Amino acid sequence: MTDPGMILLGQTLSFCGDPFVVPPETTLRHEPRGAVLVRDGRIAAVGPAERVLRAPDAIGCPVVDHGNKLIMAGFVDCHIHYPQIDVIASYGTQLLEWLDRYTFPAEQRFADPGYAAVAADFFLDECLRNGITTACVYCTVHKGSVTAFFERAAARGLRMVAGKVCMDRNAPAGLTDTATSAYDDSKALIDTWHGHGRLGYAITPRFALTSTPEQMDALGALWRERPDVLMQTHIAENRDEIAAILEAFPHHADYLTIYEHFGLIGPGTVLAHCIHLTERERRALHDTGAAVAHCPTSNLFIGSGLCDVHGLHGPPGPVTMGLATDVGGGSSFSPFATMRAAYEVAQLRGATLHPVQAFYLATLGSAKALRLNDRIGNLMPGYDADIVVLGLTSTPLIARRMTTITEIWEGLFVQMILADDRAVDTVYAAGRVVHGSRRA
Ligand code: GUN
Ligand code: ZN
Repeated sequence: MTDPGMILLGQTLSFCGDPFVVPPETTLRHEPRGAVLVRDGRIAAVGPAERVLRAPDAIGCPVVDHGNKLIMAGFVDCHIHYPQIDVIASYGTQLLEWLDRYTFPAEQRFADPGYAAVAADFFLDECLRNGITTACVYCTVHKGSVTAFFERAAARGLRMVAGKVCMDRNAPAGLTDTATSAYDDSKALIDTWHGHGRLGYAITPRFALTSTPEQMDALGALWRERPDVLMQTHIAENRDEIAAILEAFPHHADYLTIYEHFGLIGPGTVLAHCIHLTERERRALHDTGAAVAHCPTSNLFIGSGLCDVHGLHGPPGPVTMGLATDVGGGSSFSPFATMRAAYEVAQLRGATLHPVQAFYLATLGSAKALRLNDRIGNLMPGYDADIVVLGLTSTPLIARRMTTITEIWEGLFVQMILADDRAVDTVYAAGRVVHGSRRA
């Protein structure tokens, strides 16, 4: 039997342009009384309710009325570590000490696949509670941590991207692999999971400090064999990290050139942080098509620095950028907290991040960074029905403040500054309710 479909009613919000290229307000399509027709897990139509309801293929469809709530694409988090749910909110360190003192001990527990499966379920619940329908996820060095994650994501029908962390030096014995096993395990995981249902794979050398040249060479070879997968790593996050990297690779003039040398940079590369870049690295990001995962709560919380978001969209050419929580360096799962921090980071740099730009980074920008912007990140016919329904009056203060706004972008700004998971009313993944009171 064909899917009868379903119509969601509420305010609808979608993008019709890039708010870093044209005036941000002009890139929003907002219907105060809108409708989304969902069928077979996809969006079939979006528009004014009266038009969608009268369309021939909508006649007789069940209707779910979300009232005055805001219906938009699910949030996309383009960089996060699922094993770090027990590390979030760890006190008093910056990156290298934070890794040694908190992160590496926590990640060793994922040698146990049972532990990993329970953690993966907790992590996915937390993503959905916050309206994140897709994330690009670091697992641990253990192959079983990746299997557990993909199994739990598949059971919920989610579109998720993940990879096995590869580290063959400068980490505890329980967390290291080798160049050969990193290649073999990553390849086997790609064969099993990439393109399985809604899942995708990202080759994941943690960063140049924890991978030998041999390991990065092997992973570069793997990416050449499988250019359809993503390649994710960290770069230019912390000044001590950069100094250690340049000491470990004395023949390289800058950090990015190390990854370039091993064939790890190109369209499909997702680079977390990109705070302390040289002019050459900045230009190379544009020239190579690598994407940046901007992680503002993490950069503030572990004291790494202030990413130049506006500079990365200007001359010598824009860089693809998404927004990311980077939990557990990041201090919140909430896209609202992350957008708020992005606004504050821009303020500290003397720049202003428009709320439409922030919402774009948290949805379509991140989808683009993951090369998924033809499937997710927007409410468009043909896109996956990964949708969040946001209550715009989720606290008394927000309700009061919302009475003073006249434009939708102002309302978005109030939400990104004041809202949290209480604003996330319902979440749909491929058209099925996966979070909220309407969950079956
Ligand atoms: N650099 C290398 N590993 C990590 C990590 O787990 N988190 C962050 N924020 N930076 C890193
Ligand atoms: Zn990270």
